[in-house]
Amino acid sequence: MDIQVFNTKDELNRAFTEKVKEMVSNKKKDVVTIALSGGSTPKSLFDYWAQLPENEINWEKVKFFWGDERCVPPSDDESNYKMTKEHLFDFVPVPEENIFRILGENDPATEAGRYGELLNRELETMNGMPSFDILMLGMGDDGHTASIFPHEINLWNYPDNCVTATHPVSGQKRVSLSGEVINAAKNVFFLVTGENKADKVKEIIEQPDTAKKKYPAALVQPESENLHWFLDGEAAKLLSQPTSPD
Ligand code: 6PG
Repeated sequence: MDIQVFNTKDELNRAFTEKVKEMVSNKKKDVVTIALSGGSTPKSLFDYWAQLPENEINWEKVKFFWGDERCVPPSDDESNYKMTKEHLFDFVPVPEENIFRILGENDPATEAGRYGELLNRELETMNGMPSFDILMLGMGDDGHTASIFPHEINLWNYPDNCVTATHPVSGQKRVSLSGEVINAAKNVFFLVTGENKADKVKEIIEQPDTAKKKYPAALVQPESENLHWFLDGEAAKLLSQPTSPD
């Protein structure tokens, strides 16, 4: 498990971008598949990508997917797709055919089935599971990741590629990758910032055995073993061995 702590969000975004650039510039790969996380953390990353020099990343090689989506229309302010369009796609030349949004306007169970099949068609497989090249994850201050929440931690082992979930407070329906697909990714990056995440970051990194019983984020253990926690100082402040900021 690679844990890196950065002084600022900007440094974190730059470091993650370097990893993405490395993979996209790999001549052996014609396409790089990335699953984006939603919520507020990725906004500053997408804003950073939007101001990069035009040829910094060959976006035409990148196929964009999501780790989860709120079951709302793409025009809704709650939509992860809408947020990504407004902070990224409106500024960088991503071919329309490279954007595979979860159709939040559809019936959740139907969409979970459709998206799960789409992943089987679009992604390389690892041990029979669709495998993303890069999987971005956020973590809620309750220890959820993607849209698998602690009160529905049983969804983690759901046999299908995608599950339908429910936000514990708002009751909002979500479509999310299941734990099996999350752990089949070749490279998993948690991008976690903010003091409100610090206690769960500490518990998950320092007491994984108890954390695994409570928090879906603690169950992220990719087969590839390429798991990276990119933290800002606030989110890392309670760690016993504070990793020096990069
Ligand atoms: C979502 C996300 C979710 C998010 C965490 C952290 O759809 O909300 O995919 O898993 O990553 O809730 O959200 P923040 O970045 O807003 O703290």
